Amino acid sequence: MKVDVILGLQWGDEGKGKVVDVLTPNYNMVARFQGGPNAGHTLEFENQKYVLRSIPSGIFQKGKINIVGNGVVIDPATFKSEVEGLEASGHPLTDRLYISKKAHLILPTHRLLDAAYEQAKGDSKIGTTGKGIGPTYTDKVSRNGLRVGDLLHNFDEKYQKAVARHKEILAQYNFKYNLEEIEKEWFEGVEKLKTFQIIDSENLINKCLKDGEKILAEGAQGSLLDVDFGSYPFVTSSNTICAGACTGLGIAPRKIGDVFGIFKAYCTRVGSGPFPTELFDETGQLLRDKGHEYGSVTGRPRRCGWIDLVALRYTIMINGVTKLVMMKSDVLDSFETIKACVSYNINGIETEDFPFDLSEGVEPVYVELPGWQTDMTQIQSENEFPEEFNNYLIFLEQELEVPIAIVSVGPDRAQTIIR
Ligand code: GDP
Ligand code: IMO
Ligand code: MG
Repeated sequence: MKVDVILGLQWGDEGKGKVVDVLTPNYNMVARFQGGPNAGHTLEFENQKYVLRSIPSGIFQKGKINIVGNGVVIDPATFKSEVEGLEASGHPLTDRLYISKKAHLILPTHRLLDAAYEQAKGDSKIGTTGKGIGPTYTDKVSRNGLRVGDLLHNFDEKYQKAVARHKEILAQYNFKYNLEEIEKEWFEGVEKLKTFQIIDSENLINKCLKDGEKILAEGAQGSLLDVDFGSYPFVTSSNTICAGACTGLGIAPRKIGDVFGIFKAYCTRVGSGPFPTELFDETGQLLRDKGHEYGSVTGRPRRCGWIDLVALRYTIMINGVTKLVMMKSDVLDSFETIKACVSYNINGIETEDFPFDLSEGVEPVYVELPGWQTDMTQIQSENEFPEEFNNYLIFLEQELEVPIAIVSVGPDRAQTIIR
């Protein structure tokens, strides 16, 4: 059997959590492969709303194993509050959630370092989620990190050594902090984490594949935030693309099956960095209002704009997307016309290539299509799609050269049309 992958094709928050939840019944196991509590994956069903940070979005479907893979960075304090929130709402998960020994730990001082680095950057700050993601992956790559498996042997010594090193850096940045309180919360989180099965998840995943089981790999963030191919340096610190599923779970590239690329019918971004199709007018505000575009983790207003097909063609290529999933179609319901960016004009030259530097002189070239002006939220099957909506789908499929297999018409699990 192969591993199917679900990932975001834009700047995150495309609706990955919802789609993972909808597709989980087709799989035996769901595994998160990168990122950490910078993610906020929202699921809605039976009039309840849940936001998942480190826990995979397959957790609500009965009888499925969920894995936090080695590519994920985990903060025990956030993990504990996430688990307790789920337990309180009647979703105990200790026996269905396994954690990789090789996942790196976000220490309290990583969070402080994240804040110190951002403060020092001033106007050029990344606008991180402040969860310690960059410093944790930095320590991983510089071979100074601590992993979940380290919690099981002589942890205190390793921890004190790491913290002493971090304190030296914080002093260089002249950063003021109070470590005691967050440290206490963190160690309480460690005790909670240790109640879960901490395993070599790559062995379990590959055994399941050998036994013919089906696995769904869940990505966080989006391809335009990928550390190699995103709008660097305004990116996250992991490989959010399909290749990240191989390194983040221990799966061979030839074991990858379908790649589901998730995108919104328009586009959003949180944090700093270039965004060619961003709208600063009332249309942008309308998208924000209708789409409730406020960060699920930080509550920050998301920047909104038209769909960018230059960027989408690029991320579809990098990921080898086999099936597209269009989200939030209903947010465009009231628009008389809809714009789509088909190419860029860069210093007078029109191009369909995604440039090295997205921040300098990139002007989007738009085509305008008629809107459908129909309430999509109640639609049950594709036969009910208005003609203008069908035309929008045909246009996108021609431009992107990949079929749109799923259309989402509202936040609820049930508001999903599989084509
Ligand atoms: P993720 O990080 O990719 O999982 O996405 P987020 O959960 O951060 O953001 C997506 C938001 O859109 C959440 O609030 C979802 O409940 C919501 N959502 C998902 N699909 C749809 C849809 O088709 N229509 C509308 N209106 N909202 C949606
Ligand atoms: P999900 O999985 C949207 C953005 C931050 C910032 C940049 C770096 O919910 O789609 P980091 O804290 O990772 O160092 O921040 O990346 N970012 C996200 N934006 N959705 C996310 O996750 C994000 N995770 C990080 O806003 O611009
Ligand atoms: Mg999100």
